[in-house]
Amino acid sequence: MLSKKVEKALNEQLNAEMYSSYLYLSMNAYFKSTNLDGFANWMYAQAQEELMHAMKFYDFINQRGGRVVLSRIDSPPVEWDSPQAVFEETLKHEQKVTGLINALVETALSENDHATNIFLQWFVTEQVEEEDSVGSVLEQLKFLGSAKGGLFMMDRELAKRGAPQEITDLL
Ligand code: FEO
Repeated sequence: MLSKKVEKALNEQLNAEMYSSYLYLSMNAYFKSTNLDGFANWMYAQAQEELMHAMKFYDFINQRGGRVVLSRIDSPPVEWDSPQAVFEETLKHEQKVTGLINALVETALSENDHATNIFLQWFVTEQVEEEDSVGSVLEQLKFLGSAKGGLFMMDRELAKRGAPQEITDLL
């Protein structure tokens, strides 16, 4: 059984993961509008991954006998100045999510909820990966500066990212 405090915190994180999916979908739409289809593809896969994160929270709350409460998802930004600006915001966002996950671990531990703590460890590891992959795209973008040729090469590279495993399993 979940304590009310942990249940509320898990529901908040469910909303935060939904927002992440919304944010990356909006970034996908931005890249689509600028004809950078590889960058758009990368964001599409990222949005799918966030939806899977949200569903992990959804399923876990139910599994533990808690009550899922869906709340309003904020509107994400629509426009960015450049691909670099998009990835700067992405990195900042992922760092914020890491902070949220860490705070959630603290809440679970303060409530002696070891099952939730174990569930959250997957996300702790996932955040290391997320920050690393976003950070490396951002570093490449900074290195390229405004060189158009490099940007198109990167676009071809990012086009290779596939859907997350959980999604391909469903297809
Ligand atoms: Fe679900 Fe990118 O954190």
